Amino acid sequence: MALKVGIVGFRGIGQNHAKAHMDDPLSELVAVCDVVKERADEAVEKHGVKVYYSVSEMLNAHPDLDIVDVCTGGDENGGWHYEPTMEALAAGKHVLVEKPISNTVTEAREMVSFAAEKGLYLGCNLNHYFTAPADKAREAIAEGKIGEQLFCLMRMGFQGGEFSYDGPGDNPNSNGFPYFHVKAFLAHPFSIMRHFCGDITQIQAFMNRPGFRKTAQDPMVSVNSIHVKFSNGCVGYLFSQRGDTTMGYGGWWSVEVGGTKGSFSIENCVEKYSYYPAPGSDGKADPENLGPKAVIEPEVFNTGITDFGTTFPSRIHAFMEDVTNKVPFEKLRASGRDALATLEYTFAAIESFESGGETVRPHPLPKQQRVAQ
Ligand SMILES: NC(=O)c1ccc[n+]([C@@H]2O[C@H](COP(=O)([O-])OP(=O)(O)OC[C@H]3O[C@@H](n4cnc5c(N)ncnc54)[C@H](O)[C@@H]3O)[C@@H](O)[C@H]2O)c1
Repeated sequence: MALKVGIVGFRGIGQNHAKAHMDDPLSELVAVCDVVKERADEAVEKHGVKVYYSVSEMLNAHPDLDIVDVCTGGDENGGWHYEPTMEALAAGKHVLVEKPISNTVTEAREMVSFAAEKGLYLGCNLNHYFTAPADKAREAIAEGKIGEQLFCLMRMGFQGGEFSYDGPGDNPNSNGFPYFHVKAFLAHPFSIMRHFCGDITQIQAFMNRPGFRKTAQDPMVSVNSIHVKFSNGCVGYLFSQRGDTTMGYGGWWSVEVGGTKGSFSIENCVEKYSYYPAPGSDGKADPENLGPKAVIEPEVFNTGITDFGTTFPSRIHAFMEDVTNKVPFEKLRASGRDALATLEYTFAAIESFESGGETVRPHPLPKQQRVAQ
């Protein structure tokens, strides 16, 4: 039977989630709320659901809701996630919250621990790895085709440059916040790197903004260069930027993970996965003939999909499946704890940058919640 869902926040992303729930056989979208009346009212026309103008009104009117899907934004796009999430958890509802889990790490820790205390699922929309290429990559890791992981290289950013920059804009969620890009965006690349290589134990960051932002007195540090070490010994690098340059290779984002038995790359998030077996493995590339000229023929899996928007329904469906199947808490995909990890890394990166590039150890994560629902 479909689970009853109520959405909080019905603007760009709330509308996107609503469509995914309407199309998902495991979801029954019954209610939407937004503090801006006209926005909430749009949901009646679009989906014929009940609408409310506050979370409490929605919760009181629908005691049978199973899941609250928090699609609010706020300061740094995470400033208004804490209150609706805590209110929904207090009312006994499972919660799916947009990323970043919060823009404040203390609030994020509280959200994760409160969900655990209540015995409820808290998931986060870390949607970027709910794709066929990412599944292929995880299979390759599980089958031992990468071997001991040695490196992880990740690049991510919007296409842009000085010709397309037209000032800091007037979005109250981002305007005037130097760490808007860092907090709102790095949840994605950090979650992808962690999905493939595990926990990060050390971080060093340098950040900058291009001259055109400085001239416009836009404080956002939009260029992030982050060096990491994973607990498995693998080292990694993340380059992230916000429409400051063009990124020819790999599209919207690309990642490459290499180990002693082979490497894989993902190009353009949803589009292409390639596996490069190590020379000598399984009849591939002649180990006698290595050196700069050696060419490793990859096994390529091209999905033909270029629309990153397809990750939203896949991720939302995964959450609905996990809650429907009452998976053990530690098996919840893209959990609140996973989202907290990305925020701990984000805060460690900020600390490193502010200290002039010191290496920082991210705050440890809470113990995994093990009791089944
Ligand atoms: N996962 C992704 O790929 C992805 C992509 C873009 C944005 N996002 C995230 O989605 C979230 C929403 O983004 P957006 O661009 O739609 O934000 P937005 O600020 O445009 O819209 C948020 C809506 O929530 C409403 N709202 C705020 N507080 C509320 C409350 N307490 N109760 C009810 N309604 C409330 C606002 O009135 C607004 O209509 C952000 O956290 C953002 O980081 C995720």
